[in-house]
Amino acid sequence: MGSLTREAIAAVDSTGQIDEVLELSEHLTDALWRVDSSGARPFDTPGGLIVAGMGGSASGARLARGVLGSRLTRPMYISDDYLLPGWAGPSTLVFASSYSGNTEETLSAYDDAVDRGAPRLVASTGGALVARARADGAPVVPIPGGFQPRAAIGYALVSALEAAFLAGAAPSVRSEIEAAAALVDSLVLEWGPDAPEDSEAKSIARSLHGTVPVIVGAELASAAAYRWKCQFNENAELPAFAASLPEADHNEVVGWEAAAELGRFSYVSLEDPEAHPRNVLRAELTAEVASAGADPVVRVTARGSTPVERLVSLVLLGDLVTIYAAVLRGADPVDIPGIDAVKAALSAAPVS
Ligand code: PA5
Repeated sequence: MGSLTREAIAAVDSTGQIDEVLELSEHLTDALWRVDSSGARPFDTPGGLIVAGMGGSASGARLARGVLGSRLTRPMYISDDYLLPGWAGPSTLVFASSYSGNTEETLSAYDDAVDRGAPRLVASTGGALVARARADGAPVVPIPGGFQPRAAIGYALVSALEAAFLAGAAPSVRSEIEAAAALVDSLVLEWGPDAPEDSEAKSIARSLHGTVPVIVGAELASAAAYRWKCQFNENAELPAFAASLPEADHNEVVGWEAAAELGRFSYVSLEDPEAHPRNVLRAELTAEVASAGADPVVRVTARGSTPVERLVSLVLLGDLVTIYAAVLRGADPVDIPGIDAVKAALSAAPVS
């Protein structure tokens, strides 16, 4: 199998997606400054937070919800469709997150928030979303341009965590974000392109090559598992699936016995040592059951002492593994032909 040196990566990764992953620490801290620069103040929203966004721009909110977990004091809902839930209104903050600012579902949800009189906050690089927010007087967190939306995950995560705080739905976790940024600096040395070929991230990518990955985790690792799945889809252009524990122990776990007859599936267990002790035990038991039909079974332990650190460690590892997986397949991580095709067809179709 091919090597994963900087030269080998550069030969496939035409736009340097790996460099954007390696800048995660800087993105996390810069994002805090950008939230401050938006001028957003705490909102009086006892109904909590609704995040409107799609794909890479919703991924930060999914991670934020996962890491806040039982620390949430008000609802935090992710609305990934054209219309907001029926209960959205003046007592709910609607945080519209779109990297391009032109995603039709997010624009529609923003307009729905206006119709319902819901207070609004936006994070974007520009586009129609920022134009609407500026016209309305809604605060805008300015996200830097020039990335793929999924590469701006540090910005998406921090702005969603801060939106939860501003909505009164969660405590501030700024000190955890700063600690996570410092941890990323050391993990980049351990897992990045200059690390040895048998380092953890490169080894995982090699072991998963040629398989359909199924990524599973509990609590904050469940959110990270979905991020890994999406990154396998978009960076490596592969089918991949994610599931959550303990729910998967009540259905999906049954399928592993037959999996090897149907295709080559791998099982990636993302594990947070600080999760509920029963979820820690479930991770071990479920990986054992999955080994009946998955090859390989890979178990990953989150790093760091605070929840945000542990989440971010899993996200960084997944982002690197999926870029390495792309390189091993010769797939340029910037290419997302399926997403582009659907967006192009929709923009050519009349809106009824
Ligand atoms: O990663 C991607 O490119 C996509 O998942 C986009 O994030 C998604 O299509 C939504 O676009 P935007 O982030 O510009 O709102």
